[in-house]
Order: sequence, then C-alpha cells, then structure tokens
Amino acid sequence: MIIGIPREVLAGERRVALVPDAVKALVGQGLEVLVQSGAGDESGFPDAQYEDAGARIAEGAAPVLGGADIILKVQPPQATSDGTHEVDLITEGAALIALLKPLDQPELAQRLAERRVTAFSMEFMPRITRAQSMDALSSQSNLAGYEAVLLAATRLPRIMPMMVTAAGTLKPSQALIIGAGVAGLQALGTAKRLGAVTHAYDTRPVVKEQVESLGARFVELDLDTGDAEDAGGYATAQSDEFYQRQRELLGEHVARADIVVTTALVPGQPAPLLIEEAAVQAMRPGSVIVDLAAEKGGNCALTEADREIQAHGVTLIGHTNLPSLVPAHSSQLYAKNLTTFLDHLVEEGQLKVDLEDEITSGTLLAHEGEVVNERIRALLSERGAGSGD
Ligand code: NAI
Repeated sequence: MIIGIPREVLAGERRVALVPDAVKALVGQGLEVLVQSGAGDESGFPDAQYEDAGARIAEGAAPVLGGADIILKVQPPQATSDGTHEVDLITEGAALIALLKPLDQPELAQRLAERRVTAFSMEFMPRITRAQSMDALSSQSNLAGYEAVLLAATRLPRIMPMMVTAAGTLKPSQALIIGAGVAGLQALGTAKRLGAVTHAYDTRPVVKEQVESLGARFVELDLDTGDAEDAGGYATAQSDEFYQRQRELLGEHVARADIVVTTALVPGQPAPLLIEEAAVQAMRPGSVIVDLAAEKGGNCALTEADREIQAHGVTLIGHTNLPSLVPAHSSQLYAKNLTTFLDHLVEEGQLKVDLEDEITSGTLLAHEGEVVNERIRALLSERGAGSGD
C-alpha cells in the first residue's frame, strides 16, 4: 500500500502532513511512502530527510495524488494555480485523510464522493480518550494558543512580566483569555510563563477549575451558564440576549486588559460576537486583541480575517492559520495524529473501513460514491447540492 504526501497548495500553508520521523515509522511497518518534492521545505524538512527515512520522492502533485492508495494532507484539496483541481488528480477508489473543513465546504464531500474517494475528516475525530492521540483539532489548537500570545507580546508596546529596574518598576501586563478550551488554556499557560497576570472566561462552568490550576483568575460574570456544555464537552449556542448581556459584562474586563486572546467557538455555528467596537475603544492604546475565531467570523466586531489592523489605537490580529507559523512542530504533532489514525484504519496492509467502529464511522465523510456523514448530507440537501442541482 502506498501512502502519498502532496505538497500543500493553499497560500500561507507551511505545514506538511507527514514529517520524516513519521515516514520512517510507516516504512518500518511495511508501507510505501511517496512524497512530492518540496512538500516539507516550508516546515524545515527537505527532500533528503524524507529519502533517508525511506520515502520515494516524486516531482509534481499528479504522480503522488494519482499513485497513492491513501493520501494524507493538511488542507482540503483545492484548485491549483494551473486550473486543475486536486480531487481530479486522485485515483478513483483511493482514500484521503485531511482537515477537510466539511461544515464550511460540504460540497467538497460531494465532489470526493463523485470521485469515489474514501474521505476521512480529521475534524470529526470523536473526542473520546481512545482517540486523543488522533485529535488534530487539539494538537493544532494547542499551538495556535501558544502562538497567539507570542504574536500579541511582540506587538504590545509594553513587556509582559513585572520588572524591577534601577530606572523604575514596570508593572506586568494583564492578559485576558476569552474561551478557555484547548487553545485558550495553552494561551493562558503561555501568557503566565511570559510573566503576565492572567484572567480567563468561558461559558462552560467546568473550566473554572482548569483556569485556576494554571494560576489564572476565572472571571465571574452574572450569567446563567447551566446548559452551556453539551455531552461531547463542547459549548452550546446561547440566545441573543445571553450574548448581549455577556458583551456588556465582559466590556470592563476587556478594557482593563493589555492583551486579549479570544478563542470562543460553538461547533457548526458562526463565532459568537463577544467584543463590540465600544469595548475596543475603551481599551488602552497599544493593547492587542488576537482573535482565534477569525475564520468563523471573529469574536470581536472589528476583526478582519487574515489581516492585522489598527482600530482606536488597538492592534487586532485576525490570523486564521497560526499553527502554520510554527510548521515544524505543528506538522510533527499532526503527523503523529495521522499515523495513529492510520494504525487504526490499516489492517494487514489494507485499509479497513469498519462502519461499526466509532472512530472510523465518526470521521468518514465519503465512501463508495456516497456522502455518508449525516450532518454533511443534511447540509448538502439544505443547499440543494445533494440532489445534484
Ligand atoms: P472550541 O474550539 O469549540 O471552543 C473554544 C472554547 O470557547 C470552548 O472552551 C468553549 O466553551 C468556549 N466558548 C464558546 N462560547 C463561548 C462564549 N460565549 N464565551 C466564552 N467562551 C465560549 O473547543 P475546544 O477548545 O476544541 O474544546 C472544548 C472542550 O472539549 C475542552 O475543553 C474539553 O473539555 C473537550 N475536549 C475533549 C477532548 C477529549 O476528551 N479527547 C479533546 C479535546 C477537547
């Protein structure tokens, strides 16, 4: 069985699906690995390291996408600069594992099904203990949280820690993290290590203890958050009145912060709006907001996706791919997620699609010419694409 690693085509994507160490492990298990020349260049892994690990190198995407039984990617397949679509280069019947953004682009699942590709979406990895090492959302969010604080620290006209000098004492910066899930907790830890005074808020009450265990203060808001968590541990959507009240109550905390990192997301929904323009205006000039929800519309009203802007003297960072700024490590963790998942899927050198298995069926998007994920089927029929219109 041949595993294919194409070079990512999305602009700004510096990650690669497998790092050389992961290739070595797969080759050791008797799998062949075919890597597109230059696939690891941007993450610091030149072709020679893949060859040393036992991979074959191919020139161009076509031989890799067309020659592999299982293709591993970071980003969803897309149209390339010469007009061909990556999906059309995949051999019919092959498998694809990637972060396919299925809720944002369900039509891609349809296209993959039509190509008879067996497609697995890493976003749909169930959040169960058994699948923790395959959980790419967690591995990448972790690094995004870290990177968000570093970005903020470099933009801030102040330093993060308290500093006592002969010329006077500098007060520590105040960091507020809104949304303390995987990215938020890492942001908290990073801000703390840099010496900031840390505060965090999340609608899921269970988070309070996690926040405090990181030496941060949990911001208490007078809001009823009794139903804020679903069975999977994710946040549930709240009413417009709830968000309105949350914005009002959060405003004073935002105004006191030097850096604010927002990560609040509700699966399958646009990001909740938590910081209005007036709250930005009330911040001290030079303060920084890093909005990790930028791809889903942003938690701050002024965020512009993939742009860094200034508004009312505040720097707003809407980077949508922070893991890509640390591509060696983000690729290393993602590769581990993928190889563990492959280990789960491949039996005696063959891909086994066991629909009874929670991990396999949870992640499976398209199989044998059909979109099999119910949520994506529903989205497609809502959009009229399921009927082939
Ligand atoms: P996420 O990326 O969907 O959301 C980020 C955070 O935003 C969450 O903590 C959410 O509660 C918060 N949020 C949503 N609306 C908000 C609002 N209006 N105000 C403030 N905060 C708001 O979630 P993420 O980070 O991917 O994971 C959430 C939880 O899932 C984790 O904390 C954990 O409990 C669970 N989890 C379980 C795993 C496992 O068991 N294998 C792996 C990873 C996460």
